[in-house]
Amino acid sequence: MHTKLEPAALRFMHVYFSSGVWQRSHWRGVLIEKSPLDLMAYQEAIFEVRPDVIIELGTRWGGSAMFFGDMCELVGHGKVVTVDIKQPKIDHPRVTQVEGSTVDGSTLEEIQKHVAGGTAFVTIDDDHTPEHVARELEIYYRFVSPGSYMVVEDSFPRGAPQSYHLDSTPHIRAFLKRRPEFELQPDRYPGGFSMRGWIRRKPTSDILSEMEEVR
Ligand SMILES: C[S@@+](CC[C@H](N)C(=O)[O-])C[C@H]1O[C@@H](n2cnc3c(N)ncnc32)[C@H](O)[C@@H]1O
Repeated sequence: MHTKLEPAALRFMHVYFSSGVWQRSHWRGVLIEKSPLDLMAYQEAIFEVRPDVIIELGTRWGGSAMFFGDMCELVGHGKVVTVDIKQPKIDHPRVTQVEGSTVDGSTLEEIQKHVAGGTAFVTIDDDHTPEHVARELEIYYRFVSPGSYMVVEDSFPRGAPQSYHLDSTPHIRAFLKRRPEFELQPDRYPGGFSMRGWIRRKPTSDILSEMEEVR
């Protein structure tokens, strides 16, 4: 990111988060706990990747699952599998709800059935404690197809004036060291709640050219 923009974007993110506006935001009449900046970023990425399945961890009210379902509808392709320990009522033809913890074996089996070898995009927005996010990164990367993303919401990197007690970015960095087939992507819309949280599985063509360089 542009170095001059980074501190301002971090500051904006924290001010916007503290304002609580995101707790009264709606998508088609249903509460959605997202920054509009992130919604734009998702829209662009979904149109780029055209995944078969969007795996959403953390449903809450259902507004975000409906947003993802609507993006699939607009692309004309894909479906959403949304997971939460407590599911709301959602009525959307492209959304399937799974009730359970994101790290339980039964939940993973259910997700596996829906992905069934297709391409997937993962968004992590449930329990934001860094240890839980670290576990999810290690579990869910398997579902991410080359060229697709795993987005860590509420990554809350330090460096903002009002620092927040949750910061997943050290775990993201450790994950990227262990898994060189993934890379951090620049923030498309700096100032959202997923700053420094966009992880992409490198497309196969990039990995092949890296291998060429090593030879
Ligand atoms: C931040 S809210 C999700 C917001 C939603 N994605 C949106 O953008 O509107 C977090 C949700 O994660 C759920 N949650 C917390 N820990 C969980 C876990 N281990 N497994 C599944 N869901 C969990 C909570 O019940 C809560 O509904």
